[in-house]
Amino acid sequence: MAAEIIYGNKIAEKIREHIKMDVKRLHNQGITPGLAVIIVGDNPASKTYVRMKQRASEKVGILSRVIEMSKETTQEQLVQKVVELNEDPTIHGILVQLPLPKQIDEKVIIETISPDKDVDGFHPSNIGRLLTNQECFVPCTPLGILQLVKETGITIAGKHVVVVGRSNIVGKPVGQLFLNENATVTYCHSATKDLYQHTKQADILIVAVGKPNFIEGDGVKDGAVVIDVGNTYLENGKVFGDVHFNQIKEIASYITPVPKGVGPMTITMLLQNTIKGAEKTIR
Ligand code: GUN
Repeated sequence: MAAEIIYGNKIAEKIREHIKMDVKRLHNQGITPGLAVIIVGDNPASKTYVRMKQRASEKVGILSRVIEMSKETTQEQLVQKVVELNEDPTIHGILVQLPLPKQIDEKVIIETISPDKDVDGFHPSNIGRLLTNQECFVPCTPLGILQLVKETGITIAGKHVVVVGRSNIVGKPVGQLFLNENATVTYCHSATKDLYQHTKQADILIVAVGKPNFIEGDGVKDGAVVIDVGNTYLENGKVFGDVHFNQIKEIASYITPVPKGVGPMTITMLLQNTIKGAEKTIR
C-alpha cells in the first residue's frame, strides 16, 4: 500500500497559528519577542534561508532583526556583535547563519551566544542538557522531525530509529532526541559498512546526508516511517531529498516529501524557540 505523506507545511501552519497566540499573550505582558539573525558574507543559499526566517518571524509578530556583515568580517568583530546582542533586552533569540567564512571559527561564535538566547540549540551547554535530558533549547530541525513523527500517532518508545548522517545540526541531536523518547537509536555515517543492513532494521528512518536519492527502496523495511531531511538544489532549480521518494512511497507507512516536508518545520521550531527565549525573561 502507498505510504501516507506527512505534509510538514500543513503541520507547520497549524503550529504557527498557536505561535501567533503566544505572541499576542506576550504582547499583553509588554513583551515583543525579538529574533536577531546574523549573516556573514553573501552565500546565496544562506541569504535565501535568512530571508525565509525573517518573513516567517514577521508573519507571526516576532520582531526580526537581520544583521548583514561583510565576508571580510573578523572573528573579533563577530564576537563583538554577538556580545552586543547577548546584552540587548529586546532580543530573545540569536542565530548566526552557518557556514561562516574561513577566517572565523564557528565553535568560538557558537560558544559566545548566551545559552539563554541560543535558539539554534548549538551551544555546548544546550547540547549537554539535551544529552542529559534536561530542559534546553533543542536544535530546530531535530525538534521539527520529532513533531512530524508524533503527528503520525505512532508510539516512539521501543521503536528502532536509524539516523543516517552525523552532523552537529541534525544527525547527532535528532538521535539523542529520539533516545530521550525511549527509542533504540542507531547512527550510520560515511564510514558505516553495509549501510542497508542497518537502514532495513529501521522502524523510523531519518536521512540527513545532503545527497539526492541516497537511500533507495531496497534500503527500507516494509511499513517504516521515513523522514527525509535532504534539501539539495540541482542546477535545473529542482530540489531533491536524500531518499528515492517514488520507490519508497510504495514501501513505507509514512514518508515526508521534499519540499513541503521537514523544511517548513525547521523554521517553525525556530519561531517556537524564540517564544521560549522571550518567556525565559518573565520567569
Ligand atoms: N545552516 C544550515 N542550517 C542551519 C541552522 O539550522 N542554523 C544555522 N544557524 N545555520 C544553518
